[in-house]
Order: sequence, then structure tokens, then C-alpha cells
Amino acid sequence: MPEKLLEVRDLKTYFYTTKGVVKAVDGISFTLNKGEVMGLAGESGCGKSTTAYSIIRLVPPPGRIVGGKIIFEGKNLLDMDSEEYRRKIRWKKISMVFQGAMNALNPVYTIGDQLAEVFMIHRGMTKREAMPHVYELLSMVGIDPKRAKSYPHELSGGMKQRVMIAMALALHPPLVIADEPTTALDVVVQAQIMNLLKKLQREHGISIILITHDLSLIAEIADKVAIMYAGKIVEYGTADQVYLNPQHPYTKALLNSIPRIRGEISKLEWIPGQPPDLIAPPPGCRFHPRCKFKMDICMKEEPPVIEVEPGHYVACWLHAKK
Ligand SMILES: Nc1ncnc2c1ncn2[C@@H]1O[C@H](COP(=O)(O)OP(=O)(O)OP(=O)(O)O)[C@@H](O)[C@H]1O
Ligand SMILES: [Mg+2]
Repeated sequence: MPEKLLEVRDLKTYFYTTKGVVKAVDGISFTLNKGEVMGLAGESGCGKSTTAYSIIRLVPPPGRIVGGKIIFEGKNLLDMDSEEYRRKIRWKKISMVFQGAMNALNPVYTIGDQLAEVFMIHRGMTKREAMPHVYELLSMVGIDPKRAKSYPHELSGGMKQRVMIAMALALHPPLVIADEPTTALDVVVQAQIMNLLKKLQREHGISIILITHDLSLIAEIADKVAIMYAGKIVEYGTADQVYLNPQHPYTKALLNSIPRIRGEISKLEWIPGQPPDLIAPPPGCRFHPRCKFKMDICMKEEPPVIEVEPGHYVACWLHAKK
């Protein structure tokens, strides 16, 4: 039996802005087992980063987690106060590679110094004690330990991103959340970073939540895939289930928008319309204004989540008997 590591249940995170309440994450659920990679995909603004910030308990104001549970190693993380979370969980148990993080490296310190700081702050080491760990981390992410003396501007984008991944791995957390870790990089470097994540998962048994708007990127490394649309997970299952047998019209459209080099050539599609405003999302199914298959009920009632095959869930009226 796979061992559960993280269980997110009905999580809701809203931003209380002057214009209204942005329901950025609105009742999502998923389970991640030990050693699994889950891809979390969806268009810009659908709530992927907010999901990540909720798990690592760094939702920026005016945002707030307003409901649900985040059960990690059997405990609900939302029952902890922020001090306990900081002391016991963040970086030690759950770490994150932030979206656009490579630009957050401090330009005036070497990368070795910046990595050493993690051990000095969290493990109470001296710099001298920390350095062997820094060298080990750098080689783990495929950087020559000699580069510890380099400043961020001396590194390529791909190397800077590796440094950020090294930082997230420093304290050996069982769960790493990587938010768009390759977005600003060229395709070759993207593939290298994906291979690195795959290697870390295989060799170190790390569980990874990989966030991206690019479904083709996670196809090779994800065990599970969750497709998000407008604050909700609309489809969720193993990578094979979601890629080979997609059931939600939004998932199908997303997959049809990826060019395939091999296999039958089908016409590329794009999804007309725009993702909805999350202050006043459309009633019923949030995807209905853009859905080719919409029925009357889709405009009125929210679709239930249906298990279409074991472990494969879809929130769509086409699959609900009503
Ligand atoms: N600090 C904030 N204040 C107000 N609204 C916010 C804030 N941060 C995010 N939001 C809103 O929450 C929603 C979800 O944003 P989020 O950043 O989670 O999306 P995303 O899926 O990560 O998008 P992207 O692919 O562009 O990174 C959006 O409507 C966004 O405008
Ligand atoms: Mg984001």
C-alpha cells in the first residue's frame, strides 16, 4: 500500500481585496503519497500558486485560508499556529521553489554563502561546518562544487534555478513544491531541470508537487495530475488516466493545445474565451461559458465530483447522472 504523505481536503483560500473577495482556491482536494510527483496544471490565474502558498502557509495578505484541511504525515497543518509551523514544518518538512525565484538570489553574496546560511540558521552550524553540506548539495543538483564561490550573475539561468532547487533540498524535506521551476528557461534547460527533479524523486524518495501551465512538461515525470480551472480541480487522476483518457472538456482542450511530434496529427485547438473573474465566477460549472458541451444544468448547478474509474475524478455534468 502506498503511504499517504499529504492530503488536502476542501481547501479554500480567498483574497479579501477592496474590489471583493477573490476565491482563488475554492474547495480543492487531492492526495499525494510518499515518493510521488503530482503535476498541478491550469491556465494563468487559476489558483496554482495560491494552492502552493497555502500548503507552505505563506499566503500573502489580503489572502487567508478560510476552510479545509491540509493533513501532512497525519497532522492537520492548519491546526498549528504560525510559529509552530515555522519551527517544525517549513523548509524542514515542506519546502518550495518559488515562481521566478532564481531572480531572488542576493547579488552581493556568493551562492555558497547563501546556501550555507540555510544550515547556519536552521541547524545552528558555523560556516565552516556548513560548507561540506553546501558542496554536497551543489553536486546533488549537478553543479560543480567549485562554483560555490560564484556570484549569481556569473551563473546561467538554468544554474541559478538549480541553486534554488538545492536550497529547497537543503534540509532533506520529504515534500518539495516547485512552482513553475522552468518557465523562464529554454527548452533544453527545461528538460535538464525536469530530469533533475525526476532523479531526486527516484534516488531520494522525495515527493514533489510540480506546478506549471505547460501540460507537456509534466507528462514524463508526474505520477498524478490535477487540472485546475478557476479555483477548482476539475480533473484528477494518475498521469496515464488524465493524459490517455481525459474526461473533462477543459482537460481535453488543454491537451489538444499541445503540439505532438509523434502520433496522429490532430488539429491544434485553443480554448476560446478567458478564465473567469474569481470575484464573481460564473454560476454552476465555472467552465460553462467556454465549454462546447454545455447543457442547461451546467449554467445553474455546480457539478459533483465523479469517480469515473478507480482514482480518476472528474467534476463535470457530462459524467453525472441527473
Ligand atoms: N496578493 C493577492 N491579492 C489579490 N488577489 C490575488 C493575490 N494573489 C493572487 N491573487 C488572485 O488569485 C487568483 C489566483 O492567482 P495565482 O497566482 O494562484 O494563480 P496561478 O494559477 O499561480 O497563475 P500563474 O500561472 O499566472 O502563476 C488570481 O485571480 C489572482 O489575481
Ligand atoms: Mg503562479
